[in-house]
Amino acid sequence: MKYPILTPEAVRKSVARLPRVDLAHLPTPFEEVPRFAEKLGGVRVFIKRDDCTGLLFGGNKTRHNEFLLADALRQGADVIVWGAGVQSNNCRQTAAACAKLGLECHLYLTRANHDADVQGNLLLDYLAGAKVEIVDLPMGPEMNALLKAKAEELRAAGRRPYYWEPTSGRPIAAVGYVLCLAEIADDIREHGLHPSAIYISSAGGTGAGMALGQVILGLSCPVRSICPIRWPWKVREDLAEVANQTAALMNLPHRLAAEDVHTTEEYIGAGYGAVTPEGWEAMDLLARTEGIMLDPVYTAKAMAALIDDVRRHRIKAGETVIFVHTGGTPAVFAYRDELMERHAHR
Ligand SMILES: Cc1ncc(COP(=O)(O)O)c(C=O)c1O
Repeated sequence: MKYPILTPEAVRKSVARLPRVDLAHLPTPFEEVPRFAEKLGGVRVFIKRDDCTGLLFGGNKTRHNEFLLADALRQGADVIVWGAGVQSNNCRQTAAACAKLGLECHLYLTRANHDADVQGNLLLDYLAGAKVEIVDLPMGPEMNALLKAKAEELRAAGRRPYYWEPTSGRPIAAVGYVLCLAEIADDIREHGLHPSAIYISSAGGTGAGMALGQVILGLSCPVRSICPIRWPWKVREDLAEVANQTAALMNLPHRLAAEDVHTTEEYIGAGYGAVTPEGWEAMDLLARTEGIMLDPVYTAKAMAALIDDVRRHRIKAGETVIFVHTGGTPAVFAYRDELMERHAHR
């Protein structure tokens, strides 16, 4: 089915009636990285700097939180209940947003993928005033059940907690990444580019918003979501479902099928959070050529995919690619030992 193509301005208009709080520095910068690109040989690379969204070291979740926390305020919440891994960028940005909005923030952080050394994101959670409890649970359904139970406990004690189930929260969060793609469409036009692909680290709301944005804005280049984690479900189907709920929230007729979503699990390596040689190479190269830091868990693996596509000639000399830097950089401090080990052998 043919859907209407919207201009970036029309996309912004369709979002204007949704509750939103102002948290991020937008639009984020869009910059060419020629010294990095030269090392890859003959391609042009531009980076959308969503690591510069501003709030407490930035990142993609601040775009999500503009809509999620507006929903919380609309519901009259006085405390946010949230959680993930101890080095969660999401939780760090949520703690910061709560501080800015005067909301209490209760975080439940699991040691499932990293030790609980008070460094990087975890350190920032404490410093931003979140109430932190360390737990030992796998991420996914068990963690979600714990958060829900904690929210119910607070409600029973007379508080007004906000906790979002993945099913209800991700479509709201994804609106922020439809808007990010509208910014990128403006960047593309201003720079007169014809990109071959856009790369982003995601297996969730971020990628769903980008995939929906591509269809709404009628961009011809694919958005490649490079998964940082292997979920026990079909990610393309799941992201298409999230994208469709987002379109419904935006009152738009556009609907996606799984084939409209481009994902790969090829660059995860040993697992979520494990540093890969290719990810390390990407971090090392971008830092040394451009002074831009990637994180080992998300963006390094997405950049490894971009580099691999150039080396395998899926992206050819003379072509242009866009990389969305979704942040995560405070994690480098928590990954000091792994990173310095690789640094010593570079
Ligand atoms: C730095 C970074 N990039 C990408 C992502 C992926 O976002 P999503 O959960 O929407 O797939 C995250 C999620 O925590 C992140 O912290």
